[in-house]
Amino acid sequence: MSLIYPRDSLKAHPLNASPAYGSTQKRAPSKPLILLPHTLSETTGPVFGHVGVAAGDSDLTRQHDGEPLGERIIVSGRVLDEDGRPVPHTLVEIWQANAGGRYVHVRDQHPAPLDPNFTGAGRALTDAEGRYRFVTIKPGAYPWRNHHNAWRPAHIHFSLFGPSFLSRVITQMYFPGDPLFKYDPIFQSVTDENARERLVSRFDLGTTEPEWALGYQFDIVLRGRNATPLEEPHDH
Ligand SMILES: [Fe+2]
Repeated sequence: MSLIYPRDSLKAHPLNASPAYGSTQKRAPSKPLILLPHTLSETTGPVFGHVGVAAGDSDLTRQHDGEPLGERIIVSGRVLDEDGRPVPHTLVEIWQANAGGRYVHVRDQHPAPLDPNFTGAGRALTDAEGRYRFVTIKPGAYPWRNHHNAWRPAHIHFSLFGPSFLSRVITQMYFPGDPLFKYDPIFQSVTDENARERLVSRFDLGTTEPEWALGYQFDIVLRGRNATPLEEPHDH
């Protein structure tokens, strides 16, 4: 039994070639994909060690001597598989721009200030119920040169490994009600409206902490493992 993970439904994912998102024109495959059988090294094992992920890695506001500027927020949620089962002890990594919309990256040179107290990268492990929690700063919108007057809606990048490479997800989390959604070719490269809505976090008063920070909830669903392969129904 080599096919432990079912193939993704492509409908919920961004199109490989999305003409309005300029860089996909060069990197999207021009020929139909050839599906190869999954190999043992893909389907087994976690591919990272738990050593080295410290509790403080999930608080992006305390990585420097001072506090970063901007709106402090709490981003939390659950990591689940397709069958709704929690994915415990899995690595969640995030990276993001600062409150002014600037990344600490050599290629981001647009005229917004860097914040000496904000790097914009964090990581956490989910607990036994698949829960994760980050404290960070709400990122700003930022310009990119995809087209004239192109601005990305505020977003946080997420990477999750899950139990294997085949369940890895890289995605972006957005904030509710952003007026830039309809102008953003990356957000719009997910053509299914319901799937786009699943990229938008939910403001949550329950995880908002008084006089401290607003709470946003963002649940993530990874590809599930077929523990019990289903037989084809018989005709008789
Ligand atoms: Fe980004």
